Amino acid sequence: MSNKQLDWSNLGFGYIRTEKRYVSNFKNGAWDEGGLNEDANIVLNECAGVFQYAQTVFEGLKAYRTEDGRIVTFRPDLNASRMAESAKRLEMPVFPEDKFIEAVEAVVAANADFVPPYGSGATMYLRPYMFGSNPVIGVKPATEYQFRIFVTPVGPYFKGGAKPLTLRVCDFDRAAPRGTGHIKAGLNYAMSLHAIVDAHNQGYDENMYLDSATRTKVEETGGANFIFITKDGKLVTPKSDTILPSITRRSLCYVAKEYLGMEVEEREILLDEVKDFAECGLCGTAAVISPVGKIVDHGKEICFPSGMQEMGSITRKLYDTLTGIQMGRIEAPAGWIHEINVK
Ligand code: PLP
Ligand code: COI
Repeated sequence: MSNKQLDWSNLGFGYIRTEKRYVSNFKNGAWDEGGLNEDANIVLNECAGVFQYAQTVFEGLKAYRTEDGRIVTFRPDLNASRMAESAKRLEMPVFPEDKFIEAVEAVVAANADFVPPYGSGATMYLRPYMFGSNPVIGVKPATEYQFRIFVTPVGPYFKGGAKPLTLRVCDFDRAAPRGTGHIKAGLNYAMSLHAIVDAHNQGYDENMYLDSATRTKVEETGGANFIFITKDGKLVTPKSDTILPSITRRSLCYVAKEYLGMEVEEREILLDEVKDFAECGLCGTAAVISPVGKIVDHGKEICFPSGMQEMGSITRKLYDTLTGIQMGRIEAPAGWIHEINVK
C-alpha cells in the first residue's frame, strides 16, 4: 500500500499495513540490538506464554504532522515509563525506556510517508507491545519476549467526528484484578470486549464503567478517561487507581490550569453527581477529546446542557489548545514535543 492511495480525510480508526515495523527480542536475560523489518506477520510456538496466559502489554501514542511540515510525537517518554510499569506487573522484562524512544524515532522515520498531512483530520497511531514468546505450560512467566512497534494511519476513534456520544452505565465489570487497573496490560481489555459489543448492539457508543467495589463511583470507558466541566467552569476528573492513568488527561489537567487558568480537581466522582456537570468528554490518544452528550443509567437519561449537537464551549477550548500544542500551532511546555528526524 502506498500512501498516495490513501484518502486521509476519510480514514476511520483501523489497521492499515505500513512498510516497516520495529522488532526486538529478549532471550537469555538480555534484549538484542533490535531493528526494522518488513514482515507484518509473527510466527510463534503453539504454547507461547502470550497464547496460554495472555502475558502481553501494549501502549498507544501518535505522530503528528505540524503546520510547517515537521513530524512530532507527543510525550513518548510517558508511554515508555507506563509500559515499564505494565511489564513489571506482568513479570515481564522492562524494555529500556531510552531504547523505546529510539524505536519510536526509527519506526516513524521509516514510515514517514504514512504520517497524514497537517489539517487532514488523520494522524499516525503507534502501537508498541510486548509478549511472552517461548512455550510455557505451567502457570509461570515466559523467559523469552518480543517487543514490537507498528504504525498505522488513523482517523477519528468514534464515527461521526465531533458529534457528542451516548454512553450507558455499564453493569459488566472489566474485572481488573485489584491493583492492575493502573497499567495498560492486555488483560483488562479482553474483559471489556463483551461489554462494548453489548453496548453497540443496544445503540450506545461506549460504556461508563463504575468502580467494582461499590459500583457508585465513575471510573472510565473502554478506551478513554472521563473529564467533566462543572457549571462554574472547573475541570473535574476521576481519581482512581483502577483506571488507566491517561497521558492525555494528565496533559489536559496541566493545559486547563496553566494555559486556560481553570481550576482542576482530581477526585472521586459519584455517579449520583454526574447530572450536575455542564459538560462531559472522553480523553485519550485515540479519543483525543470526544464530547459526551448523554449517559443512560438503566433507563434514566443524564443529558448534559452542552447538548447533542456540538462540543461544549470549555471542552472545545481544551480540545483546541491540546491539539494546537500537538500540531505545533501553540507553544508546548518543555519536553512535551519530541521531533522525529526524517533523513
Ligand atoms: N483508558 C483506557 C482504557 C485506554 O485504553 C486509553 C488509551 O490509551 C486511555 C484511557 C487514555 O490514555 P492515553 O491518554 O494515555 O492514551
Ligand atoms: C489509545 O488511545 O491508545 C487506546 O489505547 C485506546 C484504544 C484504541 C483502546
